[in-house]
Amino acid sequence: MTDPQTSRNLPSGLPPLEPEAREHQAAVARYLAEQIRQAPGGFLPFDQWMHHTLYAPSLGYYAAGSTKFGGATLGGDFTTAPELTPLFGRTLAAQVAQVLRASGSDSVLEFGAGSGALAASLIPALRDLGIEPKYRIMEVSADLKERQFDRLAPLQADVRWLDALPDGFEGCVIANEVMDAMPVHLFRWQEDGALHELGIVCEDDAFAMAQREAPPQLARALEQRMPAYPGYRSEINLQAEAWIRGMGDWLRRGAALLIDYGFPRHEYYHPQRAEGTLMCHFRHHAHSDPLAYPGLQDITAHVDFTAMADTALEAGLDVMGYTSQARFLLNCGLMAHLPLNGAADGMEQAMALAAVQKLLSEAEMGELFKVLAIARGVEAPLLGFQQGDRRHRL
Ligand SMILES: C[S@@+](CC[C@H](N)C(=O)[O-])C[C@H]1O[C@@H](n2cnc3c(N)ncnc32)[C@H](O)[C@@H]1O
Repeated sequence: MTDPQTSRNLPSGLPPLEPEAREHQAAVARYLAEQIRQAPGGFLPFDQWMHHTLYAPSLGYYAAGSTKFGGATLGGDFTTAPELTPLFGRTLAAQVAQVLRASGSDSVLEFGAGSGALAASLIPALRDLGIEPKYRIMEVSADLKERQFDRLAPLQADVRWLDALPDGFEGCVIANEVMDAMPVHLFRWQEDGALHELGIVCEDDAFAMAQREAPPQLARALEQRMPAYPGYRSEINLQAEAWIRGMGDWLRRGAALLIDYGFPRHEYYHPQRAEGTLMCHFRHHAHSDPLAYPGLQDITAHVDFTAMADTALEAGLDVMGYTSQARFLLNCGLMAHLPLNGAADGMEQAMALAAVQKLLSEAEMGELFKVLAIARGVEAPLLGFQQGDRRHRL
């Protein structure tokens, strides 16, 4: 096989690639074909496919320098809350400040900082609250680290990028839309009750989805979580669970605010969600074909928040709150940040209101996105969960 094509039938409506993008995709495809060739039995489990297509150095979606974040007019693929408006970071600051005071620390550790948008709004907001933070970033993408550096340098703040997880961190951890970007396993319950794992093979010079019996670790994890619905296909994020388990070792005192789209387990593995939650994004086209445009499109899965909370408890951490993004932001005083006074012009007000509508609306980010707080050694009830805490639903 020389230059494998991606899936032969692309999802309808996907824009065609320009010559430069086609060239990049061909390089990614050759790299992926080699990974498949080296995999036992020529079968690359889906989590490894997702890992390589997103993070292969200089090739993967998050590693290769495409625009990614921002509105369609800016050439992005998707928009996150901090990209949408600085009001998100300014509002989050109230919760971060409370955690810092409760843990007697001024350290913030942000995972997966994207373009640096959240840090760019959070640091000035913390300064306004009298905190000069030590801001640390864990970022897997070398390209994004550079972008974050350029974006944050003008703040002249104490910002550093960590190469390894801290040994005994005290302070506030933040991860916005990071767990959804961690590689997931794809599985399918067969008609005879057996569990199969999905993966990618090369077939007739093209990538194709295939399946085989799931390894025992995967089967054990799923048997405990859901019935074997025949034909049911979904995902499980063992990497995010391992990440939270690790936090149990290194979070000495403080809280982690994990913000992402997802549900409690009974909704995640609902019988009617029989095709799972995997989503791909390319220039604001959302579809569900993870073989299309490898290296050029984002691949994500929703988060099973019950799994994350259970893992935190097993790791000796406390689960301090779980609620919708809308409720969390309102509890943290979002409305007080709206530029409604005379200083703001009409256009600024209209844009801020449109962004807030998107953050809060049930039909947009307000209900689908959740906030989970896990902690150690923090006693006080957290501001963001004062009303509408839904831990009982996990
Ligand atoms: C969907 S983007 C979100 C970016 C940003 N937090 C935002 O809200 O705009 C996912 C980010 O997580 C990073 N990432 C993924 N897995 C990670 C991990 N295990 N540790 C640190 N960063 C990670 C990606 O490189 C990227 O920066």
